[in-house]
Amino acid sequence: MSFLKKIVVTAGPTREPWDPVRFLSNRSSGKMGFAVARQAAELGLDVILVTGPVALATPEGVRRVDVETARDMLAVLKRELVEADVLVMAAAVSDWRPARVHEHKLKKAEMGAALPLVRNPDILQELRETKGHRIHVAFAAETENLFREAHRKLRQKGCDIIVVNDVSASDAGFEVDTNRVTLIDRAETLTHVPLSSKDEVAQTILKRVLQQFDAD
Ligand code: PMT
Repeated sequence: MSFLKKIVVTAGPTREPWDPVRFLSNRSSGKMGFAVARQAAELGLDVILVTGPVALATPEGVRRVDVETARDMLAVLKRELVEADVLVMAAAVSDWRPARVHEHKLKKAEMGAALPLVRNPDILQELRETKGHRIHVAFAAETENLFREAHRKLRQKGCDIIVVNDVSASDAGFEVDTNRVTLIDRAETLTHVPLSSKDEVAQTILKRVLQQFDAD
């Protein structure tokens, strides 16, 4: 029997530059991902936290790697996932980035009405090829058709567990200290987590991951 030793967790937003002062990003504070990293360290695991720009202190016992863009995050993950047993993707990764990064600050008149964008890589889909026995946990941040979208993402991204997050509620999802989620696994088993602190949600996620690791 092998034991779960190493976990990689992502947190926060990515920041996609447009010019030296402007970027494309989102409201992720990093709190959910940091809670997963903190609770994993409490369990005595070797924890690597790959985070976008956030204003949070690194949890004790966690090795932190800071990144800016989705492409940076993917490159760091490819390196840090060596010998990892689990990847938890709590980061809110930008699906798109400005098509061109300008060297100088754009003047109002140069900006135009539209910002041309290009697709970023889908990190979970790219890492699927090298997944092997590693457990992949995704989050689904949704405002409508929560379960339909979550099932689609679970299959499309080849994950073992998806954490469905209704981000339209004011007491759950982005920025707040609490969350309300449902975990769905490959066998379509649902685990509802009522409104709790993000640390309590993290504990439930890790408990489910440990069960999955023992079952595989
Ligand atoms: O940081 P907080 O303020 O605490 O907020 C927490 C949270 C709302 C950000 C978090 O709980 C959450 O839901 N994170 C996932 C946000 C997200 O990007 O969801 P998504 O449905 O767009 O993406 C689905 C999954 O694919 C996610 O695991 C995401 O990390 C991953 N993804 C997304 C885009 C991309 N290009 N590559 C990816 O791998």
